[in-house]
Amino acid sequence: MTLLPVPDTAVIVVAAGSGTRLRAGGPKALVGIDGRSILRHALDGVFAARPMQVVVVAPAGFEGDAESELRAAAGERADLGRVVTGGETRQLSVAAGLAALWGDVTRVLVHDAARALTPAAQIDAVADAVTDDAGVIPVLPVVDTLKRVDAAQVLSAVDRAELAAAQTPQGFPRLPLEAAYATALAAAVEYTDDAALYAAAGHPVRHVAGSERAFKITTPADLERARHLLAGGGPGAASIPLVPSIGIGTDVHAFGGEGSLWLAGLEWPDEPALSGHSDGDAVAHAIVDALLSAAGLGDIGQHFGTAHPEYAGAHADVFLARTLELVTAAGFRIGNVSVQFQGNRPRFSARRAEAERVLSSALGGARVIVAATTTDGLGFPGRGEGIAVMAVALLIPAS
Ligand code: CTP
Ligand code: MG
Repeated sequence: MTLLPVPDTAVIVVAAGSGTRLRAGGPKALVGIDGRSILRHALDGVFAARPMQVVVVAPAGFEGDAESELRAAAGERADLGRVVTGGETRQLSVAAGLAALWGDVTRVLVHDAARALTPAAQIDAVADAVTDDAGVIPVLPVVDTLKRVDAAQVLSAVDRAELAAAQTPQGFPRLPLEAAYATALAAAVEYTDDAALYAAAGHPVRHVAGSERAFKITTPADLERARHLLAGGGPGAASIPLVPSIGIGTDVHAFGGEGSLWLAGLEWPDEPALSGHSDGDAVAHAIVDALLSAAGLGDIGQHFGTAHPEYAGAHADVFLARTLELVTAAGFRIGNVSVQFQGNRPRFSARRAEAERVLSSALGGARVIVAATTTDGLGFPGRGEGIAVMAVALLIPAS
């Protein structure tokens, strides 16, 4: 049996947050980016750097999940890793990680699992720059023009050359970091990050270059950004959907438009017209919204609203063909679309097959099911004032 050298560096990967702002319904670290979770990606970066002791700080109750992610990322170096349970605050979670360090460790990195795509080179660069007394953080220059403001007024400009955005991992010599943590915990003071806590104990903190890829996944938009990066996408490239996705769309139009009625892709010459920016085809519009919703592409107003005059007066075929392009570019094909409208008129059953054919052909041959119902005289559809439609769509990953 070969004895591997015991590393002098440890990384504490804090992953115990709840992810309130991500709103994923579970701990953020376990949310999938592509086929792999945020934590798994963070650990892949860590294990691609130099051999270090790896302490994963997991949310209480999810230690087993964290352990599986750790084992998968560690490969043959499972001996380097262990999982501990986190605390109420990030600071308490880091403290839990510190308590699990091996005796030989002299240098500690603290890393947010939420910075899942941090390059291994950044982790090594931080470790290299730690000295006997100085801490190290990776930073990015601030690119926006910054102002100091109060509730209503701009008070002054801020020189951005003096500012930088802090990332992780943040690296420190072990003993002074442990002492600084002990002081902060005893005084029950919360610091914004480990560098602030370390500096408050009187130690210097230096900086090295951070990277765009080390951004923190905080909101759903950040998660999309991570997906986009992993898909190797340049601007406009689609993310990789992994599972089927359903969407819902509704639309309502009042009678009172010009000309004849357009509904479900068909012209109804003897029926009163619906009003609307386009032809008022509420069935087509609800389908568009259901498809866009399933693809996570926003809604009809965004893609076809009054800001797009080219769609004024357009019929279902134009809307649906463009929607098909959008969902295809996002990496999906259509499983099926089912739509039902509520209204007394037109009497639909005689033309159902024709409507389904027209709508299906506008969607590249996808399965479209159309139904109609009355509302027993109730509500605006029952009074004959307009039509209400609800559609659902199922999208399937293209490959
Ligand atoms: N973290 C932790 N323990 C806590 C709070 C946060 O280990 N009690 C970790 C998170 O898991 C994350 C990192 O600290 O990797 C940065 O925190 P943040 O991005 O704020 O994550 P959350 O606290 O989970 O998210 P939110 O603030 O939206 O709830
Ligand atoms: Mg938080």
